[in-house]
Amino acid sequence: EMLEKGGYDHFMLKEIYEQPRSIRDCMRGRIYPEEGKVQLGGIKEFADKLKNIDRIIIVACGTSWHAGLVGEYLIEEYARIPVEVEYASEFRYRNPIITEKDVVIAISQSGETADTMAAIEMAKEKGATIFGVCNVVGASIPRITHAGVYTHAGPEIGVASTKAFTAQVTVLTLMAFYMAQQKGTISNSKLVELLTELDCIPDKIQVALQSNDIVKAISEKFKDSRNCLFLGRGSGFPVALEGALKLKEISYIHAEGYPAAEMKHGPIALIDEEMPVVVIATKNSSYEKVISNIQEVKARKGVVIAIVTEGDTEVKKMADYCIEIPDSSEAFLPLLATIPLQLLSYHIAVLRGCNVDQPRNLAKSVTVE
Ligand code: AGP
Repeated sequence: EMLEKGGYDHFMLKEIYEQPRSIRDCMRGRIYPEEGKVQLGGIKEFADKLKNIDRIIIVACGTSWHAGLVGEYLIEEYARIPVEVEYASEFRYRNPIITEKDVVIAISQSGETADTMAAIEMAKEKGATIFGVCNVVGASIPRITHAGVYTHAGPEIGVASTKAFTAQVTVLTLMAFYMAQQKGTISNSKLVELLTELDCIPDKIQVALQSNDIVKAISEKFKDSRNCLFLGRGSGFPVALEGALKLKEISYIHAEGYPAAEMKHGPIALIDEEMPVVVIATKNSSYEKVISNIQEVKARKGVVIAIVTEGDTEVKKMADYCIEIPDSSEAFLPLLATIPLQLLSYHIAVLRGCNVDQPRNLAKSVTVE
């Protein structure tokens, strides 16, 4: 087993460190930055259909659902197609309105999740076109969908999803660009620019991983916390949700992810000197707004751990702890901001003596509803 872990103490840590490579594998043969072109062989036969679809419904569970939320931002932003993101378990038991003009994207690492499979079957019966975004090649979901795009992250052993999440986000980013290309909602020069940057994201993830020592030191301070709040805006919100899920899954600390502006509608009541608040405060369109959210937390004596863009000075004046990540366009922020949060949950769980790779009560694939 030590051999399989490649010298790392846990599979989770190994998988966190594999991300520069897994994302590169995921993009291989699919992006052509110089031409400003995305090719997705798995959904090629639906290329024309994508020009005329009314709506996309994303169905998934857990971490895959969080990836779906990132997908929603990207598809709406670039391809201008309305997107709804549904928990598969809720969707399957409603009587949702689905037509032949809808495309359903089912996201699943394992490709075996019972609720996601049932949601697919239902949407299929109602005539929708179903795309799968799966990691395990040949699993059940890729077999029941009409088409799909594999994430190619390689086997993920840790129960807490890490590299599969960033690969799902990468595939959804590629799908958003592909749809935008088909629909003509993006210029070729913009696509050249975005793909050129995307091509460098694995290197930036490598840099983000260098925050490990700082994150470990911060983890020492918070290992005995009982609660933790994660805040983000825009596509930083699903990152906050994912950060909170990771922490609760493996360290058993109660954690909640919230859109930063929603804090004042409830969770603010929880804030005191005992409450660590992790804030995604990178330089993007909501930067100023997030700064005022940090001030609201500080005014109530909350402890702020901020994920900031390299070289930031503003947030550093206010936050108690800062973790830097490389600068990037807003589109790629989730891929980078997720990295320190994975490391944070990992180190806190290790320091608490938890079974990181096999947390209690959880299974790698949930084949019961
Ligand atoms: C992730 O860390 C979780 N273990 C869990 O939420 C998982 O993402 C969920 O069960 C969905 O699994 P799937 O992607 O294999 O469908």
